[in-house]
Amino acid sequence: MSAIQAPKGTRDIFAPEVHAWQHLEAAIRDYYGRYLYQEIRTPLFEHSELFSRGIGEQTEVVQKEMYTFRDKADRSLTLRPENTASVVRAAIEHNLFEALAPLRFFYIGPMFRYDKPQKGRYRQFHQFGVEVFADDAPQVDAEVIFSAVDFLRRLGIAQVQLELNSVGCPNCRPAYLKVLRQAAQDRSADLCEDCRRKIDSNPLRIFDCKQHACSGIAASFPVIGDHLCPECREHFAAVRETLSWMNVPFLLNPRLVRGLDYYTKTAFEVTSGQLGAQNALLGGGRYNDLIRELGGPDMAGIGFAAGMERLVLHLEHLAAPRPKVLFVATADPRWLAHAVQLAQVLRSEGHPVYVDYQSKNLKKQFKKADRIAAAFTLVLAEDEVRDGAVSVKNMATQEQVKIPLKDLNAWLKQNP
Ligand code: HAM
Repeated sequence: MSAIQAPKGTRDIFAPEVHAWQHLEAAIRDYYGRYLYQEIRTPLFEHSELFSRGIGEQTEVVQKEMYTFRDKADRSLTLRPENTASVVRAAIEHNLFEALAPLRFFYIGPMFRYDKPQKGRYRQFHQFGVEVFADDAPQVDAEVIFSAVDFLRRLGIAQVQLELNSVGCPNCRPAYLKVLRQAAQDRSADLCEDCRRKIDSNPLRIFDCKQHACSGIAASFPVIGDHLCPECREHFAAVRETLSWMNVPFLLNPRLVRGLDYYTKTAFEVTSGQLGAQNALLGGGRYNDLIRELGGPDMAGIGFAAGMERLVLHLEHLAAPRPKVLFVATADPRWLAHAVQLAQVLRSEGHPVYVDYQSKNLKKQFKKADRIAAAFTLVLAEDEVRDGAVSVKNMATQEQVKIPLKDLNAWLKQNP
């Protein structure tokens, strides 16, 4: 029978790579705890409408990339392509605005997008992200951005580029979209078919087009930065000033628009020179209208999400933690009961222990101990059982000593 393979765009994660994931997850919990973020876990699927309303009907994600299906009761459901809309939905549904303070969340988990798979781009991928509600101060934008860059630096990912823009707000964007539309209209004959369609529906998305000709043309289009209202201009100036106090270098990219429609004011991305084509490590920004648009109070929001597969590509050099594994070997199946009990005691004292129930002779068991990289093999034979002891063989030096069972834990602690 032919073997079944994992679906295209998904990955199995196992040792030693899984150690880098565990390291990353622990680092996220530790670091973001210091900023008073609390973990939130939302469902992997939601009503499709949440994403079409939240992310924007005209985005690539909603138009082309969602895993949408009908359940047996004919509801339209979608595997979450991102988590911001879900966190907002959960906060509204449970009125977390009243129940929790401060309103700061972080999450870690799988997201799903029907993307073209390549290195660093998958159909099931993982994000960690943060969301801050109810704080419109530009210093919060700077703190969120600082935390993202500082977190990467602490992971040892220092060669990154932070790009920053302001995408305006409903006060200034309509006038800007008008001039942008006009500029695009003037060049429509030279744009790709997709971009021509976007002129009416969502001209900002033309800046996302990967076609060389389109990005060349878009480079001459007017930029939102020249059309910001006084409030957005002041906010953006204060974000940049705070980032400078925090010693965070950034590149102003007036064409950074992000792929999701909910952003207002600050938008940012961090890229890595080490990643090739899929070089965005993380992206985010402010979304001051999303909570209201999804039926909640008129409340500001800001956050970002990072692609964990892309972070892990930078962490693969991390040595897998090597716990001191103990292997319990028996010279004769008669001593298996002693072996089981010894393993129980050692595990309750915190040691990782493996018992070989299968191999009939000691030689085979020593071989297996080497294969699982055991530090010590504890041998139970007639003498040891009679004397209430165990022979401990150091697998690296091959030295062997007999230790009374009552002294074993102390001995192991002294011999790391
Ligand atoms: P996003 O830019 O769509 O933003 O995704 C954030 C990050 O997820 C990207 O920078 C990238 O590292 C990773 N990513 C996206 N798609 C894939 C994929 N197919 N394979 C691997 N990694 C991928 C958001 O999702 C927003 N929710 C971020 C946000 C939070 N904005 C405000 N709060």
